[in-house]
Amino acid sequence: MAKLIIVSNRLPVKLQEKDGQLSYQASEGGLATGLGSFYKKENNLWIGWPGQVVSEEDKQERIIDDLNKENMHPVFLTETEIKEFYEGFSNETLWPTFHYFSQYAVYSQQLWETYVKVNQKYCDEVVKQAGPEDTIWVHDYQLLLLPSMLREKLPDSTIGFFQHIPFPSYEVFRLLPWRKELLEGMLGSDLVGFHTYDDMRHFLSSVNRIVGYGSTHGWINTPTRSLLVDSFPMGIDYDKYAGTAALEEVKRRENVYRGNLNAEKVILSIDRLDYSKGIAQRLEAFEKFLEKYPEFQQKVTLLMLVVPSRDAVEKYKELKEEVDELVGRINGKYSRISWNPIQYFYRSYPLETLSAFYRMADVGLVTPMRDGMNLVCKEFVASKLDQKGVLILSEMAGASKELSDAILINPNDINQMVEALHQALTMPEEEQITHMRNMQTSLQRYNIHHWVSMFMDRLSYVKIKQLSLA
Ligand code: UDP
Ligand code: G6P
Repeated sequence: MAKLIIVSNRLPVKLQEKDGQLSYQASEGGLATGLGSFYKKENNLWIGWPGQVVSEEDKQERIIDDLNKENMHPVFLTETEIKEFYEGFSNETLWPTFHYFSQYAVYSQQLWETYVKVNQKYCDEVVKQAGPEDTIWVHDYQLLLLPSMLREKLPDSTIGFFQHIPFPSYEVFRLLPWRKELLEGMLGSDLVGFHTYDDMRHFLSSVNRIVGYGSTHGWINTPTRSLLVDSFPMGIDYDKYAGTAALEEVKRRENVYRGNLNAEKVILSIDRLDYSKGIAQRLEAFEKFLEKYPEFQQKVTLLMLVVPSRDAVEKYKELKEEVDELVGRINGKYSRISWNPIQYFYRSYPLETLSAFYRMADVGLVTPMRDGMNLVCKEFVASKLDQKGVLILSEMAGASKELSDAILINPNDINQMVEALHQALTMPEEEQITHMRNMQTSLQRYNIHHWVSMFMDRLSYVKIKQLSLA
């Protein structure tokens, strides 16, 4: 029976080891949480890294057995591969460039060569697992070369690629010394998907100017084959988030947390610790807000959850220090014995706790400098069962294209964020409900299942169309 093979750098679970005991915890990040709900439901297989270095063969065998039972297959990366492929080329070269932070990008031939080798390693694993009828769905910037590598080994296979982060404009993308190889890697796919129309346009423009292939209505004709490029805004598992928010246990937790916080209003922010998320700018805006509107002091608390991420990468280490310092300074300035302006947590939380926070928050403050989509803002909206609450959302997040009922802000405009906070905290309930309802209607409809079926239907259509074009 034909199956769907999902390939991403990281599996939806992370290996943990304590006293020789292995366990698996859900991975954070939109790719893992988004697709994690759906892949197990059918005859699917997910290939990826389990998040830790495992060198002993017998331990690898145990992990393979454990994961196989859950329809997953691990790719083990060595310490050097993690350093040079994952932390290095993926997160010090591609991530900053694709998020318009090219001043942070490292250009190193050594890192590039390891990136090529690790993509080949993933290719070998997929080839081992794939049958001729299977569909292979490759995800994200860590595996840009994989589609072409797979095409070479399995020329007739069905290969989709989806990029979860932005695709920058040609002027930024062209800065990469390996720009042509990266695009050629992606062009091995039958269908290339992005979250937004803008990302798709940027990709097509780079393909045109760097590789020399034009396009018509998203179709690119290479000398040997045709492929399609399109946009598919990713949704969430709406019922999962709304259902969790309705649990008695979650309501109980919300009451406990609310009691402990001692604030009339709660502003919530949740992100991985990442410079693309605009955490420092958000803190600056909150500080200015307290200064400009002192009547909110001792009444409003910013509950800020920051999930540790890529902490071996220099820029992430620096950001951790910056955020710690900013929070300390603002709390030092405004705190009272019974009230802290910012409650800051540097760790990850299980779904039930996140859900209680989403329920509790009067304002969801999501202000990335750049974000492919951003699922946190969608989860916040889905968890608002009474439809009260306001979303402030950066126009630089892919989600802003769908959520026009949010208060949209430019994260570089601190004054605008200050006024948005004031507007959100004083918005009449009826208005809150109208906006929340509109956003819920759209998110309920364009959920994760819709996203997967749109992509898969399009991929099947491409395969049929290719036959008629051949
Ligand atoms: N998340 C999580 N545990 C936490 C905090 C966040 O699992 O403690 C999840 C959150 O629910 C969301 C994802 O991490 O689904 C973050 O995805 P998003 O698209 O917002 O940003 P990304 O991290 O992918 O850049
Ligand atoms: C984003 C990326 C994912 C990545 C996730 C977490 O969502 O699009 O590919 O898995 O961040 O980052 P990490 O480096 O921990 O895998």
